[in-house]
Amino acid sequence: MCGIIGYVGRNNCMPIIFDMLKRLEYRGYDSAGISVISDSNLYLMKDKGTVDALRSVVEFVDCSIGIGHTRWATCGAPLKHNAHPFLDCKKELALAHNGIIENYRELKDGLMREGHVFSSETDSEVIVHLIEKYYTGSNLIEAVRTALGQVRGSYAIVVLDRRNKKIVGARHESPLVLGIGKNEIFLSSDIPGFLRHTNKVVYLNDNEMVEISHGGYSVYDFSGHTLQKEVKEIQWTIEDAEKGGFEHYMLKEIYEIPRAVQDTLRSRVDASILEIDFNDFERILLIGCGTSYHAALYGKYLFENLLKVPTHAEISSEVRNSTLAMSDTLAFFITQSGETADTLAAARNLRRLGATTCAITNVVGSSITRETDAVFYTHAGPEISVAATKTFVSQITALYMLAASVGEVRGEISASVKTDLRNALRVLPSELQKVLDNAEPVKNVSRELAKYENAFYIGRGYNYPIALEGALKLKEISYIHAEGYPAGELKHGPLALLCEKVPVVAIATYDELYPKMIGNIAEVKARNSPVILFSTENHPEANELADFVVEIPENHQIITPAITVTALQLMAYYVAKERNCPIDKPRNLAKSVTVE
Ligand code: AGP
Ligand code: GLU
Repeated sequence: MCGIIGYVGRNNCMPIIFDMLKRLEYRGYDSAGISVISDSNLYLMKDKGTVDALRSVVEFVDCSIGIGHTRWATCGAPLKHNAHPFLDCKKELALAHNGIIENYRELKDGLMREGHVFSSETDSEVIVHLIEKYYTGSNLIEAVRTALGQVRGSYAIVVLDRRNKKIVGARHESPLVLGIGKNEIFLSSDIPGFLRHTNKVVYLNDNEMVEISHGGYSVYDFSGHTLQKEVKEIQWTIEDAEKGGFEHYMLKEIYEIPRAVQDTLRSRVDASILEIDFNDFERILLIGCGTSYHAALYGKYLFENLLKVPTHAEISSEVRNSTLAMSDTLAFFITQSGETADTLAAARNLRRLGATTCAITNVVGSSITRETDAVFYTHAGPEISVAATKTFVSQITALYMLAASVGEVRGEISASVKTDLRNALRVLPSELQKVLDNAEPVKNVSRELAKYENAFYIGRGYNYPIALEGALKLKEISYIHAEGYPAGELKHGPLALLCEKVPVVAIATYDELYPKMIGNIAEVKARNSPVILFSTENHPEANELADFVVEIPENHQIITPAITVTALQLMAYYVAKERNCPIDKPRNLAKSVTVE
């Protein structure tokens, strides 16, 4: 998730371009770059690091048109040569891209055979070379359209044309908005990019293109037809706009879950990408802290079930001093930030003990990627709120993909299980969307839960780590004391605490453990605890035991937990809001914990 911008208007516009980029830095911050035209020359200035760092070293030239980019790397390390914009071979065009191009390897091979020379490892660079291939110098819109016809994936792009002094923008599954000022036109991934300069916007839809120049703007669809678009006036402040109109980053990030899952699926992890011999080990370890540990625990059930390999989930700080020889072990280190000190130390230790190590992280080029033999990225986009939400759902999506791929290599997954999982994953983003579009039941139970000071979350099997994660989310942001438990374990102690003042959030989605969950809920009810039940549509048997019910769409029993946890995150959010808590920055917590 990067920020891209385009500008045409006043002379000496470099300060405006940098200001726009600065406003989009929340979307990406590992490198920055701009390209401008001055006196018919095309200038390119880019580097790894922040917008401010770039601004302090570049020489400002007199220009009135340019494009820019703040990067959040998904393909290619965050280094200068991978920073956007990219130029074509003739240095007539510059391009910045936000998104992921799925078929870039094939396209790049073909273009290289035709003589195109590449300067980066990114997926994005293929687009500028493809446009160059089709551009005769007079109809940029047409060349962009033809080039994009060959590209698979998600993109918003801005292309700067030196000769004709114009910018073409296009979008498909990544955002791009047009801002209309007085004698100036802006293109930006998001409204904060230009809100200081104008509040008049034209929203571009997917598969629309726009051409901007000093003469004005025209919008087209991907078939080349001109479109008449309405100019809207927005009334938000810049701060509101950065949160996309949501009150908090956490809520915005929960609503980004369907998109994040889509991007994780799009990255198509498979065993071959990781270059690990999966037949070469006897056991798997999954390691992480906090939410990432819960993803690890979920992975334990998944890997044992699908791969039939003994798998253990461990908390990073508990294995960092381990002394067992590990040459028969494949260890996955799960960390959203890639900077968690305990997880880095655990990775170093286990590698030293002989384990084969692989990182699962959201941040390209983060420290963990230098500590492990292989890396798999989750591509959820930057997460600002301290509470992990979309990145957890992406982590468990990544684990499904890994398990399915490794299972295939080891010959453990039958064709029919593979087809079932693939079909289940295909509908997952739309089912997640359904939960978010129908948040009323979750809001209703949140008002109830907010009245209590203690709560238990219970689940069995795949739903046990989901119960732990639901409880962690609640305690982190609402300060209600919450414990996650395997449902069968309640009777071994915690039952002593249950009473009308201690509600129980029961996760009883439909699977082979469902009858046992019904028994556990009855035990809870017998102690007068209010029950908030998360169940799946079409399986209402447990509903009559509950005081409040949230029904969620039913998917494959392995995949439904991704949907359940999204609803639990939403519930934690609304409880914290009800209690007026500082949701994005809970007391005593930091987004990445870089101390041991
Ligand atoms: C999650 O909501 C927490 N903020 C925390 O538990 C977090 O998951 C943990 O610190 C691990 O972070 P990481 O994934 O970046 O390694
Ligand atoms: N895939 C591009 C890159 O890695 C764009 C990144 C993004 O939009 O997230 O440079």
